[in-house]
Amino acid sequence: MQYTWNDIEQHVAACTHCPLSRTRCRPVMGRGSHEADLMLIAEAPGGQEDRQGLPFVGNSGEILDSLLQDCGLSREEIYITNIIKCHPPGNRDPKEEEKEACFPYLKYETFLLKPQIIVCLGRVATQRIISPDFKITRQHGTWIRRKNCVLTATYHPSAILRDPSKYEIAKADFCKIVKKRSELKFV
Ligand code: URA
Repeated sequence: MQYTWNDIEQHVAACTHCPLSRTRCRPVMGRGSHEADLMLIAEAPGGQEDRQGLPFVGNSGEILDSLLQDCGLSREEIYITNIIKCHPPGNRDPKEEEKEACFPYLKYETFLLKPQIIVCLGRVATQRIISPDFKITRQHGTWIRRKNCVLTATYHPSAILRDPSKYEIAKADFCKIVKKRSELKFV
């Protein structure tokens, strides 16, 4: 059976597949254009996102918006989601079993969207999606080709909040992403 965006959203809203469903305020489904060629995958909703049920509405969302704006991108033309849809208490790293329980939702989102470019934000998303050995500090901004899309990774906006010197590095990565996007449009 082929799920629709609406089906996925409803499943996420009612999900009880892991214990985070008992501590979450609201699950956070991905947001953005369902026609986007560019998909950003981050880690998990933070506290603000948990309260509002939307991705990247807190401090790290401001950093993300600024990076997007600096490279001429807007949230409306891309799709942003997380590896897990519920907030881990205290912003701890998601546990393996939580990532596995939530993975089908990300798979459906990716299947429906069929992005040409996937950008992983931060270690947790990158090591789950690209490779467990991937090191952001050494390999950010490099490209990996998979069947129907190319993938890259850069710093998570919350890492930039902790160390603002990473902003320019992430901005350069986003500018490479914009360049890659226009190259892919002409092949
Ligand atoms: N951090 C994330 O990884 N995702 C969000 O949606 C917000 C903060």
